[in-house]
Amino acid sequence: MNMTFLDLPQMLAATGVITLPGSKSISNRALLLAALAEGETELRALLDSDDTARMREALVVLSVATAATDEGGLKVIGCGGQFPVRQAELFLGNAGTAFRSLTAVLSFAGGEYVLKGVPRMHERPIGDLVAALKTCGANISSLEKEGFPPLLLRPAVIRPGSVVKIRGDVSSQFLSGLLMALPLAGVETTVEVDGELISKPYVDMTLNLMARFGVIVERDDWRVFAIPAGARYRSPGVYQVEGDASSASYFLALGALGASAENPVRVTGVGKNAIQGDVRFADALAAMGATIEAGEDWISAARPTNGKTLKGIHLDCNHIPDAAMTLAVVALFAQGETTLANIASWRVKETDRIAAMATELRKLNVRVEEGADFLKIVPPDATHPLQPAAIDTYDDHRVAMCFSLAAFGVPLRINDPGCVAKTFPDYFDCFGAIARHAPVIAIDGPTASGKGTVSARVAAALGFHYLDSGALYRLTALAAREAGVDWADEPGVAAIATSLDVIFHADGVRLNGREVGEAIRHEEISSWASKIAALPAVREALLFRQRALHRAPGLVGDGRDMGSVVFPSASLKVFLTASPAVRAERRVKQLLERGETANLDSIRADLEARDTRDRARPVAPLKQEADARLLDTDHLSIDEAVAKVLEWFAPFMADNSK
Ligand code: DC
Repeated sequence: MNMTFLDLPQMLAATGVITLPGSKSISNRALLLAALAEGETELRALLDSDDTARMREALVVLSVATAATDEGGLKVIGCGGQFPVRQAELFLGNAGTAFRSLTAVLSFAGGEYVLKGVPRMHERPIGDLVAALKTCGANISSLEKEGFPPLLLRPAVIRPGSVVKIRGDVSSQFLSGLLMALPLAGVETTVEVDGELISKPYVDMTLNLMARFGVIVERDDWRVFAIPAGARYRSPGVYQVEGDASSASYFLALGALGASAENPVRVTGVGKNAIQGDVRFADALAAMGATIEAGEDWISAARPTNGKTLKGIHLDCNHIPDAAMTLAVVALFAQGETTLANIASWRVKETDRIAAMATELRKLNVRVEEGADFLKIVPPDATHPLQPAAIDTYDDHRVAMCFSLAAFGVPLRINDPGCVAKTFPDYFDCFGAIARHAPVIAIDGPTASGKGTVSARVAAALGFHYLDSGALYRLTALAAREAGVDWADEPGVAAIATSLDVIFHADGVRLNGREVGEAIRHEEISSWASKIAALPAVREALLFRQRALHRAPGLVGDGRDMGSVVFPSASLKVFLTASPAVRAERRVKQLLERGETANLDSIRADLEARDTRDRARPVAPLKQEADARLLDTDHLSIDEAVAKVLEWFAPFMADNSK
């Protein structure tokens, strides 16, 4: 199991410009057609991602020569329809665009080839494509389960005059693959589509690329496609890959959710005349009320104007199957329900996307209805507010990318964020560049330094949320004691930390429904808290609970590792301290006020022992971060300390109100 994760704080707004990575669908088609063509092709702005890497590796195995150009492009030396290598095994990962098109093309390339992928690829049906290829002469067998990869392709030639029937309602990549393969015969062939053709814009894209490489397919409606006799792929010289319109959807959605019309989010690399069907995603956003503009090479998105809000939609998403996933998350911020219909193909993608989206949306407390070919989303309301959650991504780049938008409503954790490398390796860097997060003030310092009081007062002054992280360690210590778990039992205490049933309220804190505000302050619990706080598994278990409070309009967190571990990119970090003598005096005063007895020397000794333990522990030790400002309160009143923090934070407030 991959244990990496990325925690996203709640977002307030978005603005900026993103230069899109190249389109995956175009890149893989262009690579294959350039390899098949006569002559050299320079491909510009090609996508560099896992899926295109699988296609490029396949071409290397087939001995297609390529070279980087000075302009950052890739020169492909076409092999005129004859790959030099006639026997090979190709591993194509989970790249559907590579698998389907290579299956079709290599069926008639005169060699013997084995095509394999990751386990999920072997669960994705390909029988309809194989059946169609067989009707025009291909010799293909399934090596494991009939109708699924891996496949063995043996040499075959396309029968002249073939009329090939192919199902159009499972994956349009079947038809695209077939269309790209048939010109290799050099004879007239015809394709007839059985049933409703889904995802038509992708087929249109295939035809567009084939035309650029010299093969004009005649199309009658979306049912009959004729490849003329004598068709041959020829290099167009230079081919410029458009920016990826599906990748654009996340940023346009960010704009629709959080950008003003004056400062929209703009994507460049794709514009109103794009050949990718997913540019129509912008129309769907416009239908929801977003402010959309487009030029030759750019599209921008912003919130609705005139104080309006986004509205839910009922949309047949057959033409934008990939980008439609983004709408499922935008729907959380719209008024009224959204229904995404005609999306059965989601079930055979990188994962069963209908099931994945429904499951993960429910983790955020969203009401979802899931059908064989639709998804209905009810936006949150007071009775069903969004809840922070850890989102699983199923090795599906689009699940990871579209859920990042939910951060507009609530902080969340994205598990295995690296899966975005399939199509967009630096997605989260781009996301971070245009997302503006709720601010956080991290206040760290030793025990009894006054940071709790100061932090709570700063939070109140700003109207921010307040996180007393020490209380979580104290609560864990108390719960562990009550459960009879020894402080040194790391997995045992971590399990307790994970399942703490805690409610912080205005006058205190409830643990398992019981008021424990005072109980967690006893010296004995203080000492236990400091011991369990040194256990890495306990700290890990409490991490997301703390980050889940990083919400709008902002957060003040106090503890030992706020600036170093929990909120390393905090707007302001303060190291608030006082000398041991002053801190011991303050603690004694506190205890006496509560009517307890107190001995200055033993209190000071105890406090210094805890300091030493907090500073010396290997995980998240107490220390002043290089970028934290020192606030020594020996000679400051609480009011003065609060005023100082607010003064330091003022520039960030000004920045946020822009
Ligand atoms: O701030 P406090 O005294 O309530 O904290 C109780 C204990 O929890 C303290 O010994 C150190 C530990 N702690 C921690 O390790 N990390 C934090 N962020 C907060 C507290």
